Amino acid sequence: MLNGKRILLIIAGGIAAYRSLDVIRRLRERGADVRCVLTKGGAQFVTPLSVAALSENKVYQDLFSLTDEAEMGHIRLSREADLVVVCPASADLLAKMANGLADDLASTALLATDKPVMVCPTMNVMMWQHPATQANMVTLEARGVLRVGPGAGNLACGEIGTGRLAEVMDIVAAIECFFAEQAGPKPLAGRHALVTSGPTWEAIDPVRYIGNRSSGKQGHAIAAALAGLGARTTLVSGPTGMTDPAGVDVVRIESARQMYDACHAALPADVAVCAAAVGDWRVEVDAQKKIKKGAGGPPALTLVENPDILASLGQLAANARPRLIIGFAAETGDVVAYARAKLERKGCDWIVANDVSPGTGTFGGDENTVHLVSADAVENWPRMRKDEVAGRLAARIAAARPNTTRSMSE
Ligand code: C5P
Repeated sequence: MLNGKRILLIIAGGIAAYRSLDVIRRLRERGADVRCVLTKGGAQFVTPLSVAALSENKVYQDLFSLTDEAEMGHIRLSREADLVVVCPASADLLAKMANGLADDLASTALLATDKPVMVCPTMNVMMWQHPATQANMVTLEARGVLRVGPGAGNLACGEIGTGRLAEVMDIVAAIECFFAEQAGPKPLAGRHALVTSGPTWEAIDPVRYIGNRSSGKQGHAIAAALAGLGARTTLVSGPTGMTDPAGVDVVRIESARQMYDACHAALPADVAVCAAAVGDWRVEVDAQKKIKKGAGGPPALTLVENPDILASLGQLAANARPRLIIGFAAETGDVVAYARAKLERKGCDWIVANDVSPGTGTFGGDENTVHLVSADAVENWPRMRKDEVAGRLAARIAAARPNTTRSMSE
C-alpha cells in the first residue's frame, strides 16, 4: 500500500524509540522507502546499526558530516521524502520545531523541509500536559503538522496518564491514511459509517462494574480503515486503552445503554459495524453508594438484559436503517452455523464470525481468523492481523456500495 513512498523517519530520544524499529519494519513490509535520522537522544535508545539494518538504508546522525553532506545534503534529505515522520517525538524536539530551532540534523531537516510532517509524541504525562508542550502542539497543528497519539496508559516512568507512544499499527495506519488521502477521491467519500468497539462497563455501584476483556483492537482498526477509505466515521467506544484512530469522531461511553443512545444519536448512517463486546446484562439497581461488606453477607445482584444495539439497528424502518449492517459473532465452536442463526435473529446483512476458544489468542491479541457470513455465502479468511481484517472488511464494504445495495456479491 505504500509502494515507492519515501518516508523520512526522525527518531528522537525516548524509551519508546525502540518501537520506531517496528514502525520501520511495517513500513518496509508495505513497500515504503524509509530513510532515518537518529538524534543524539534517539541513539541512546536504539543503535544506528539496527535502524540501518531494518530500513536497509544509511542512517543520518550528524549535521556537520562531510561525507553525508557530500552524498546528500540535509536540505535534500528533508525534501526528497514524500512525508517526514517524527517517531517518537520528544517534548524537546516538539519545542524546537515550534520555535524554529535548528541545532542538530533532525531539527534542521524539520525546518528545511517543504513536505508534510507527522509527529508521534511520547513523554511523561506532566511533560505532555505542561502548557509549554500543549502550546507547542497547538502551534505545530495550526501549521498543518499531523499528530498521532499520544495514548493513555502506564508510562515507562512508572506514572499513569497520557503520554504513551501510539500503537505501531495506528502510526502505520495514519501514514497509510495520509497517502490514501493524497491519492484522490475515495470509495466511501460522502458515506457515514458507524462503528462500535470495546467492552461495556455496567455499574454495580460507584466503584464496581461488570466488564469484559474486549481490547477494542478490531473495532478501532475497522473505524480507521473505513475513515481511510473516505467515510465520515463515528466510533462509539467503550473503555479501552486504544489511541483514537486518525480522522475518526470518537464518542466515549461506558454502559450498553449509553452505547445504544450514542449509536442512535449518530444516525443516519450508510453502514454500521457492531464490533463492540456489549455486556448482555446489567445490574437492575445501580447502587448510588458503594455497597458495604456487612453482616448480611454478599449482596444479591439481580441482572436484567441490556438492549441489543445491533438488532435495534436491524429493526429500523427501511428509510432509517443503515443500508449495510455488520455484526460480529465470537463463538467457541460451530462458528458458521451460529453466525447464520445470528444473521437472521439480529436482522443484519453480514456477520464477521470468529473463534474465541481458549488458545486462539483472539481476545486482546493482534491476530484474528474470521469467516464473513452473509445470507447466501460464507468466506473463510486466512489468519491475519486485526488491521488486515479491518482493511479487507473496509474494502468489501466499499465494494458493496452501501448507499445503493445490500448484496455481498456486488
Ligand atoms: O448476541 P451476541 O452478543 O453474540 O452478538 C454479537 C453481536 O451483536 C456483535 O456484533 C455485538 O456488537 C452485537 N451486540 C449489540 N448489542 C448487544 C449485544 C450484542 O450490538 N446488547
